[in-house]
Amino acid sequence: MNTDQIVRTFNDFYRERGHEPVTGGTLLPPSSDPVLFTTSGMHPLTPYLEGRRHPQGRRLLSLQRCLRTTDLDEVGDRTHLTVFEMLGSWSLGDYGLSQSLRWGYELLRDGFGIPPGLMHVTVFGGDDEVGPDSESLDTWRDLGLPVEPTHDENWWSHGPVGLCGPDSEIFVWTGDPGTPPQGSPTTDPRWVEVWNHVSLRHRRDEDGRLRSLRQPGVDTGMGLERLVCVLQGHGSVYDSDLFEPWMRLMPPLWPLDESSTRLVCDHLRSSVVVIGDGVRPSHTGHGYVLRRLIRRVLTTLWRDDPSRTLSDLPGEVLRHTLDHFRQTCGTGTVREVLEGEERRFGRLLERGRLVLGKPEFEGRLSDEDYRYLHDTHGLPRDLITTLRTP
Ligand code: SER
Repeated sequence: MNTDQIVRTFNDFYRERGHEPVTGGTLLPPSSDPVLFTTSGMHPLTPYLEGRRHPQGRRLLSLQRCLRTTDLDEVGDRTHLTVFEMLGSWSLGDYGLSQSLRWGYELLRDGFGIPPGLMHVTVFGGDDEVGPDSESLDTWRDLGLPVEPTHDENWWSHGPVGLCGPDSEIFVWTGDPGTPPQGSPTTDPRWVEVWNHVSLRHRRDEDGRLRSLRQPGVDTGMGLERLVCVLQGHGSVYDSDLFEPWMRLMPPLWPLDESSTRLVCDHLRSSVVVIGDGVRPSHTGHGYVLRRLIRRVLTTLWRDDPSRTLSDLPGEVLRHTLDHFRQTCGTGTVREVLEGEERRFGRLLERGRLVLGKPEFEGRLSDEDYRYLHDTHGLPRDLITTLRTP
């Protein structure tokens, strides 16, 4: 199955069971939200999961694009991405966790063709505040899947305050096809978590106390890229069709080591999506995140060859990404933004080299030097380090 078919299968399955697709999906939460970018599928639905009436009803589904900067330093490995997508389904005070788990199992087995013998699940085993999640345990036993109870790993919370509850995670065996599954999700990393079903029954208040919600809901989230990898049998997201045409066109254009190629593709693809959602580079907020992404790409490209330029980016990768994320902005706008930032960064580097070439900046720099270079010449610390690296 390619990515489009996977998304369609998910949508059709939940629509047939009365779920309405939530439209929108932008990376930018409303300005009243303290979070800069949407970081999970459920985030935009928080007020509704806390009890507000949703105009589209009590059964919802979505494909939500998300952005996480916490993983920026991990990008370059096989799995981490800056912009990624989450498939999700919700019951807003409608059906309970057991029904959600049964549907989840049915979709993985019949819709995506995963043999039940390759699945393992975990459930919340209880702690001193809340008892074990026997509803999930009984459901999985009834369905015949191996279950592992855990503690912290199966308690989901949005943060120290807010919605929380026990969750049940579904893992798929990704070991050698010839090797039968071994161990359990907590003992063997070849069990890969694909789907999390959370019973949102509680809210943690500011005073630390746990309060039961009047209308318990269910929130499920499944990372699209990871699901695609598991279903297509790839060890890396970059080998899946999500990164076609990036991984076909970028390496011949800019030959780099594997992890730098991945970083360049991830950051540029993420930048295209952020620009498509209306963000422009700036020195604060959303725009600063975009600026950092573009400048990290340029720093990587120019390390080996300063003549490389984003004007060489093939239109095909821009078009593919805008289409995949259903964005209406044209490739011309994306190019203008990327090239404008390239020019600004180029000028900053030139000025930086001149300033740093002065005798007073030879040798070790003090915190005061860094402050002066930043405040007077606009040179951030990481840029100075890059410029001074031989
Ligand atoms: N809230 C759960 C998660 O983020 C499921 O959406 O994993």
